[in-house]
Formats: sequence, C-alpha cells, structure tokens
Amino acid sequence: MCRCEEITYEEIEEVIHHGAVSFDDIKRLTRCGMGPCQSKVCAHLVLQAIHEITGKPLVEIPIPRTRMPVSPIRIQTLATNSTQFSTVKSVLDELELENGKVK
Ligand code: FES
Repeated sequence: MCRCEEITYEEIEEVIHHGAVSFDDIKRLTRCGMGPCQSKVCAHLVLQAIHEITGKPLVEIPIPRTRMPVSPIRIQTLATNSTQFSTVKSVLDELELENGKVK
C-alpha cells in the first residue's frame, strides 16, 4: 500500500480492525504516508482500503491532513550559508516571471 514506508494491505487492515477510521489514524499507527512522496502515492489506496474494509462511503472518510511544504524544495532554498532566518529564501524567489506568468 505504502511503497515509501513498506506498509502492506494487511497492516492497514489490522489497524482498521483496531479502530483506525481515517488516513491520519493509520498514519499515526503505521507511518503510512510519511515517506518521501508524503502520501501522494498511497493516500488514495488507503482511502479505498478504508472504504472496502469498513463499508463507509468514500465521501464520509476524512481526507489526509496536508502540511507545508506542499511540494519538495531544496534544503539550499531553505538554508543559506547565513545563520539568520531573514535570509531564508522562498520557492517564489526562484521563479522567473514574464508578463506576470511563470516562464
Ligand atoms: S507511498 Fe506512502 S508515503 Fe510514499
């Protein structure tokens, strides 16, 4: 189910039988969704598994909570040679705009 953290369907099934009702519950109990892709690959699979195992409609299953950064950014972008936070760059600093649009 979660390739990044090597979590199997059976492990997901077990925590659901122990009371997990949302992706975030499963994440806390198994580390599912905490890998490098930050659940971009496994979230929909886990939501489908919750639906299949519990019979709960997909629209009633809470969607996973997302946290910043939404997309991967380089450490170099966050940390420069300076030790002051005021010099931390934003991803937006790296964008090149042309007529208000990203090149
Ligand atoms: S596949 Fe689950 S975090 Fe990447």
